[in-house]
Amino acid sequence: NWTMAKFVDKEIARIRALVGEKGQVLGAVSGGVDSTVAAKLMHEAIGDRFHAVLVDNGCMRLYECEQVKETLTKHLGINLTVVDASDLFLDGLKGIHDNPEAKRKFIGSTFIDVFEAEALKIENEAENSPKAGRIEWFLQGTLYPDVIESISFKGPSQTIKTHHNVGGLPERMMNGQGLKLIEPLRELFKDEVRELGRQLGIPHDLVMRHPFPGPGIAIRVLGEVTREQVAIARKADYIFIEEIRKAGLYDQISQAFAALLPVKAVGVMGDKRVHQQVISLRAVQTTDFMTANIFRFDWDFLERVSTRICNEVDGVCRVVYDLTTKPPGTIEME
Ligand code: XMP
Repeated sequence: NWTMAKFVDKEIARIRALVGEKGQVLGAVSGGVDSTVAAKLMHEAIGDRFHAVLVDNGCMRLYECEQVKETLTKHLGINLTVVDASDLFLDGLKGIHDNPEAKRKFIGSTFIDVFEAEALKIENEAENSPKAGRIEWFLQGTLYPDVIESISFKGPSQTIKTHHNVGGLPERMMNGQGLKLIEPLRELFKDEVRELGRQLGIPHDLVMRHPFPGPGIAIRVLGEVTREQVAIARKADYIFIEEIRKAGLYDQISQAFAALLPVKAVGVMGDKRVHQQVISLRAVQTTDFMTANIFRFDWDFLERVSTRICNEVDGVCRVVYDLTTKPPGTIEME
């Protein structure tokens, strides 16, 4: 009979056999559940011969980059390099108006450039280390539903998942440098990945973390992404999530975030009329992320969040709650 403990032992043995005594593995981490669990499993199997890279694209949540670094290195012992590429991303995003797909494409291709450059550095260092061999493997935190989805969605109709992780990211690296894929989570569903994470000693908050898209806050700032707009969306999001946690609702919600709308409205603040921006809050419940219902907060909760955001986030004078199910809405706003 199948248990998670047996799965861990078997998978660690399989990874060791595959990679060999000296083999090295490279992988991207985001701070999300899947990449963290996959990274921790690699670390258990081959220690520092697994190299994790976190690319800071300037569009992560408030304080998230620091937190992820702390958790992965200090608590989980993972060999992690953080690349701060936020200027590159934020400078490049300027001037993209009204074109969500262009944002995604720019972020996706810039990510690959940055990741590839870092991988080359790590490879050069690794070549010179007498203890270890060449980097031959690339880790991917692909889950079973990703495998299914990428098969069933192939075809001309589909840009639904430009983000899709399966085979997407490393294609150029795989062909160019002959890296082979290693996908330890490829037979697991999300709840099983969480269970595996617990088994590996990953903290509860991380195991239960809501999904966060690769392009991050850039697709939650509608319209042009600038440093100022990202700062506003981040602060509002931080307050919303903080209140959700305080109310004990985090684990009942599948995904929640604040988005910054590209419009201004009039408000009164103190004794002055102001003309400022609008934050939209979104929280959904779903099992498969293909369809979703909105989460039903009580009014006191929503009012509290609204008041805090207007008081604490400069440039915002109005907060709305998004009542759109998926479909017709997507979970993200762009
Ligand atoms: P949508 O917005 O398509 O989102 O209803 C479904 C789920 O996918 C996530 N998502 C992404 N994840 N890169 C990712 O890694 C992306 O570009 C991306 N776009 C959407 C979204 O957060 C939700 O969980």
